Amino acid sequence: MVMSLDDTKRMAIASKLADMKLVQELLISNEERFLSATNDSEIRERFQDMLQDDRKNMGVLETVIVQYGVKSEPNTTAQKMIQEARKLGESSELSLYEKVAQHELLKHKQAMTGLLIHKAAQVVGADIEAAITPLNTVNFENRAHQEQLKGVLEILGVRALTGKDAKQGIWARVQDAIAAFSGVAGSVVTRTDDEMNIQDVIRMDHNKANMLFAQIDNSDDPKKIQEYFGQLYKDLTVHAEAEEQVVYPAVRSFYGEANTQELYDEQGEMKSMLQSIRSMNPASSEFKAQVNRLKDAVMDHVRQEESTMFTAINNNCSDEQKERLATEFKAAKSKLQDKMAASMK
Ligand SMILES: [Fe+2]
Ligand SMILES: [Fe+2]
Repeated sequence: MVMSLDDTKRMAIASKLADMKLVQELLISNEERFLSATNDSEIRERFQDMLQDDRKNMGVLETVIVQYGVKSEPNTTAQKMIQEARKLGESSELSLYEKVAQHELLKHKQAMTGLLIHKAAQVVGADIEAAITPLNTVNFENRAHQEQLKGVLEILGVRALTGKDAKQGIWARVQDAIAAFSGVAGSVVTRTDDEMNIQDVIRMDHNKANMLFAQIDNSDDPKKIQEYFGQLYKDLTVHAEAEEQVVYPAVRSFYGEANTQELYDEQGEMKSMLQSIRSMNPASSEFKAQVNRLKDAVMDHVRQEESTMFTAINNNCSDEQKERLATEFKAAKSKLQDKMAASMK
């Protein structure tokens, strides 16, 4: 018997993450349209900042989806809803005020979905909480954007109703509201995505694997054990493959032929151990014993990468090269995850 690697709860969260990516695309294109629709410098400035955040957050979302390690399509109802919202935003029937009002609802939806994923992760597993940490930034900024949009709506609304400008003081109030949020959420805001180098990204994966090993070890419920192992199997397979596609070929010349070959060989062993565990019964005691053997092998391998290989990278690559490797590594993982999701259908 070969166990299934998919878990319903994890797939449901993956689908919500896919919804968020779809909404994020619409948020960005809305803001681009608002910018070309108004000459008001103050309002333009708000939208410019928001657009900058939202483009950056698209990158954060993509990273979170890859770190999460399970890919899914967006929900069909969500797809329909977004299609409708897009049509409405592009139509000439609505005024700018009405379009921004729709946009604020969309921001609200995005903030709520982000929060929901965060709460669901707390229930499902520590490995998920770790993987989605950067989502905190996106959630926090969406809350702040909602406040700013309320300010924009006041200005546009008063103008639409009276033909006159609203009384001053709106932005000050908006800033106060945002400051109140950052008091609550500021400590969890992490701006890691822009500057992550290859070592950071690899280390994140290693830590997540470590966490999954601990979760398997601490659990006596075969269902949970199967869920964690399914995630571990996917994560390790994709991580190893992406290292072999991107990292090992890049370090070979300065890390040395023998050292690099050793990493390939160790991963070969790891892959065959994963296969054999996958055919075992997660309720058997042999299962945990084999997972522990795998853990020892993986941790040995990880130690080598994080000590000598990381040092070699530091000594031979510029910051820019290390960041480029990180980008290529994430892109390779994303492709491999797509392939894996397609092969499981
Ligand atoms: Fe590796
Ligand atoms: Fe690794």
